[in-house]
Amino acid sequence: MQTIHVATPSARYDVFAGSGLLTSLAPRMQKAIGRLPRRVFVVTSPEIWALWAERFLESFPEPPVTLFLEPGEKHKTVASVEKLLRQMVRAGGDRGSLLIAFGGGIVGDVGGFVASTFMRGIRYVQVPTTFLSQVDSSVGGKTGVNLPEGKNLVGAFHHPSAVFADIGVLATLPERELRAGLMESVKAGIIRDRALVRFMEEKADAILRRDPAALEKVIAASIRMKAQVVNKDERESGLRMILNFGHTIGHALEQATGYKAILHGEAVAWGMIAALFLARKRGTITAGQQERLEKLIYHYGPLPALSVRPARVLAATGGDKKNVGGVRRFVLPVGIGDAGVVEDVTVPEIQAATTYMLGHAKPRGKRPPSS
Ligand SMILES: NC(=O)c1ccc[n+]([C@@H]2O[C@H](COP(=O)([O-])OP(=O)(O)OC[C@H]3O[C@@H](n4cnc5c(N)ncnc54)[C@H](O)[C@@H]3O)[C@@H](O)[C@H]2O)c1
Repeated sequence: MQTIHVATPSARYDVFAGSGLLTSLAPRMQKAIGRLPRRVFVVTSPEIWALWAERFLESFPEPPVTLFLEPGEKHKTVASVEKLLRQMVRAGGDRGSLLIAFGGGIVGDVGGFVASTFMRGIRYVQVPTTFLSQVDSSVGGKTGVNLPEGKNLVGAFHHPSAVFADIGVLATLPERELRAGLMESVKAGIIRDRALVRFMEEKADAILRRDPAALEKVIAASIRMKAQVVNKDERESGLRMILNFGHTIGHALEQATGYKAILHGEAVAWGMIAALFLARKRGTITAGQQERLEKLIYHYGPLPALSVRPARVLAATGGDKKNVGGVRRFVLPVGIGDAGVVEDVTVPEIQAATTYMLGHAKPRGKRPPSS
């Protein structure tokens, strides 16, 4: 097991990553945050609970109150938050209660937001169950829900009191979810950790086979990277922006495809392909580095084909004609293991990067050889 310490101006807590944490959760939580209160709530989804409830409950002398959130972005809403808050009041929750968010990024974001608002804020613990939530969303204190107008438009910064990432629960994670989540680790390596890039190149087979030692190494390195960045810039006023590498076009793709055709990690992967193209054009990486990193991304694919018009993606980046005077912020890698934010990306540059990416995202058989 590895322990990573998060220390920001507003919070200090530990992230534990290793195999078998789930069956000893209660004593581990007591050790990390002190005696458990009278009312402990678990927010989870029915499918995760069906798979893992028995192991989860093993170490609790008294079972926590279980509250369910249906899976999917369409349930990451203010209405779900209200429902959970009301259930907590009716079940006797008070200011001393503890909430455990047990699930993927959606459960973590909603559960964290519920904890940030219930009785003006109670403590919560993240027990992430997807690869993405273990390496990314459970750490850093961003919580929130979607509005019909857009993703993550309502939320709060509210750090967990501890995070327990049990690699064992990844055993039941669908292959596509694992591969999509691994893109966040590829991202972590490219922007901040050259050794992680090399490890993910050399140990790809073991990682994709879900070898626990290989997964632990990737997960711990990714969390460490995120913790270091968040420790320096909790509220995303500077350095934390580099975590958005691949996200400008990635978010645009998600928006242009209605959040249905591709998973978040897959959208980020295509966004990284576009950003690497831009970086090579601007000379912050070499053609050889672009080729090496593209190969790594495709190795953790397959990435789904995209049938979306370039103009729609462009509009979603704010790179259409209406925004000619606006700032288009891009995170670009500088070599391998470093990155910076540029704010002067031009419309033709975004057009070229989008065209390049969509050329590689054609249905299989019509793509250029490397993808
Ligand atoms: N707060 C942050 O900093 C941050 C960062 C990145 C992403 N996010 C958010 O995270 C969300 C995506 O999270 P995600 O990728 O974890 O998706 P998710 O929460 O939708 O989980 C994916 C699917 O896998 C299932 N699942 C989860 N764990 C499982 C397991 N162990 N075995 C079998 N099935 C399992 C879930 O029920 C769900 O159907 C998005 O809403 C995104 O906005 C937040």
